[in-house]
Amino acid sequence: MDEILRGINVAPSILSADFSRLGDEVEAVLNAGARVIHVDVMDGHFVPNITIGPPVVKSLQSLVHGAGALLDVHLMIERPEDYISRFAEAGADVIVVHQEACRHLHRVLDQIRDAGALAGVSLNPATPVETLAEARHFCDLVLIMSVNPGFGGQRFIPTSTAKIARARDYLPEDVIIEVDGGVTEFNAGSLVEAGARWLVAGSSVFGGRDVEERFAAVAQAAAAGV
Ligand code: DX5
Ligand code: ZN
Repeated sequence: MDEILRGINVAPSILSADFSRLGDEVEAVLNAGARVIHVDVMDGHFVPNITIGPPVVKSLQSLVHGAGALLDVHLMIERPEDYISRFAEAGADVIVVHQEACRHLHRVLDQIRDAGALAGVSLNPATPVETLAEARHFCDLVLIMSVNPGFGGQRFIPTSTAKIARARDYLPEDVIIEVDGGVTEFNAGSLVEAGARWLVAGSSVFGGRDVEERFAAVAQAAAAGV
């Protein structure tokens, strides 16, 4: 677990997988070496799209944990506090909430840790890193959105790389920086160079024909950024 937390990880986002064969798709990226599986939860309120909930996380838990990998659950929902325990019980190892969706962020992060998961905070593209002046001291991970949340396959917002570098300077050393949106083999190296350690990749992994080959391309590019 520690190795995963401290290492560079490309985290395939199942949002871009073929849901009719979700188990096979996840198995393919696990076989290719993925150790973080990213799950995007959307409620149609915080973001315009609606995706999946705890039952899907639960259905993946034995496959993912059996491979020694982690389930990284990204909650793009309003009132995330009402769902933390359900996602933790379903097998989430990391639960990420949006700063913009939490009126009582400290309480929610505590709630996540009390449920036995690692606590992450995500920032939308227009939310400055400096809004984490307090929260940086009580979270395990910060997720920098490099697209506006809600959909896979969007174009990377170029200013995100500098934002990651600012976050790396601003956050305590042990807080993991994750980046999400528009990550490809062409920008993965520079994102790692800027300070990101977990790179979410949806369409760049599941969008091609050979998922294992696509994963390897992004992972190799990320490793070259060290
Ligand atoms: C977007 C989601 C992302 C999405 C990324 O709101 O949070 O995790 O799956 O997809 P790509 O990698 O295609 O931008
Ligand atoms: Zn995500």
